[in-house]
Amino acid sequence: MKQTFPTDFFGGASISAHQTEGAYQTDGKGLSVQDTRPRDNHKIADFTVAVDHYHQYKEDIALLAEMGIKIFRFSIAWSRIFPEGRGTINQKGLDHYSDVIDELLKHGIQPFVTLNHFDLPQALEDEGGWTKRSTVEAFAAYAKTLFTAYGDRVTHWLTINEPNIMLLVDQKILGKKIPLSEKYQQFHHLMIAEKYAFEACHEIVPNGKIGPVPNISLVYAATSRPEDNQAALYFNSVRNWAYLDFACFGRYNTVFQDYLNQNGLTIDFGPEDEVLMKRALPDFVAMNFYTTVTVEQPTEAGDMKNGISDQQSEDIMERGFYKGFTNTFLKKNAFNWTIDPLGLKTTLQTLYDRYHLPIIITENGLGAEDHLEADGAVHDPYRIDYLSQHINQCLAAINAGVDLIGYSPWSAIDLISVHEGIRKRYGFIYVDRNDAEEKEQKRVRKDSFYWYQKLIEEGAIPSLEE
Ligand code: BG6
Repeated sequence: MKQTFPTDFFGGASISAHQTEGAYQTDGKGLSVQDTRPRDNHKIADFTVAVDHYHQYKEDIALLAEMGIKIFRFSIAWSRIFPEGRGTINQKGLDHYSDVIDELLKHGIQPFVTLNHFDLPQALEDEGGWTKRSTVEAFAAYAKTLFTAYGDRVTHWLTINEPNIMLLVDQKILGKKIPLSEKYQQFHHLMIAEKYAFEACHEIVPNGKIGPVPNISLVYAATSRPEDNQAALYFNSVRNWAYLDFACFGRYNTVFQDYLNQNGLTIDFGPEDEVLMKRALPDFVAMNFYTTVTVEQPTEAGDMKNGISDQQSEDIMERGFYKGFTNTFLKKNAFNWTIDPLGLKTTLQTLYDRYHLPIIITENGLGAEDHLEADGAVHDPYRIDYLSQHINQCLAAINAGVDLIGYSPWSAIDLISVHEGIRKRYGFIYVDRNDAEEKEQKRVRKDSFYWYQKLIEEGAIPSLEE
């Protein structure tokens, strides 16, 4: 029996600028922190060429239109618009995204734009990056520029991709450690920058809708020990709710505030921040989801390094608060990330119960090593299986009352993973390159491409017998 989903639920697909575009110094683009990022492994692909989406966007959009997508989530590279982060606009950069938007609309695809996805202009980083208030001001001016330039054609916007993961997994995403004394000042600035974007979008874009886009993974307690439950409470707050409570309620939640106090951290507020935090609110919550997290109370110091090794792996620890725990009830993918479709339903229910705002899933997918066969096919049944299981849990969440309005998986086309090169692929469209050779980046439709095409067409998961 086929299950039906709300109209327009399907048809999204997502990418980010630096993981796809390449052309890192073309047409006046300035450097971003992703271009300059220190790397411990030089054998994996970097972002200089990526998958050449900057030059091949028309071909990519035509393929995505053939797959049937209705919504395309992509990010704009801030340093293409303002090579120095602020000041003089680079017209070629502004024109490029205008052309991308027109191309999407020509194919009947709605652009869904992320203002910033991990790629702060290096010029701003040189001044202290998100630790400095001046970066908030530069971001507010950048956001207004985009709303003014594209607001006649783009109604749906996302603010800053996964600020929670960027701060927690700083070493893997930015190639450096942010000192704890600066990390939560950065948190405040990122969150305030987002508030300026909410307001400017509502002021400038006719019928504009905007939301935050954190990575939300519900944190489980390893056992029913009360201490483990405390660990889960703190990590849920530090990883998930601190960000959404700020965005949706305009407040620091008490568990997070206690975490800051215990670490002796104080935050500098600007004179208007208290008012702005409460006043500027989102229209929806976008969330990225790959798996859940399980933690226990750390008991012995020294058996694991303080810190987080990866966005989703269990190698996480903060003394006095939480420590990652292997959840033996869950299988893992080839890159050590657990797979927990039911955890998606629970995460959606928990999130919706807390905020009562419509939810859009803007990332969900399986990183895997795909292979181009001699006959030109790419068989990725494991990806179809992962996506089917998660989509089924989306339906279960909707039936349980969650206002889940859209699903935009990661990723539309193969791209360079955050820290594992292109060996780890996510796309519906294979890009023929590897970590060592750039080749010509020929595009190839994977089996999941045809599966997703059918799913969009029918509004239901294709049954396996067909
Ligand atoms: C999310 C990011 O954290 O996870 C994406 O928003 C990223 O940019 C995705 O690609 C998957 O992570 P990874 O490390 O496998 O690329």
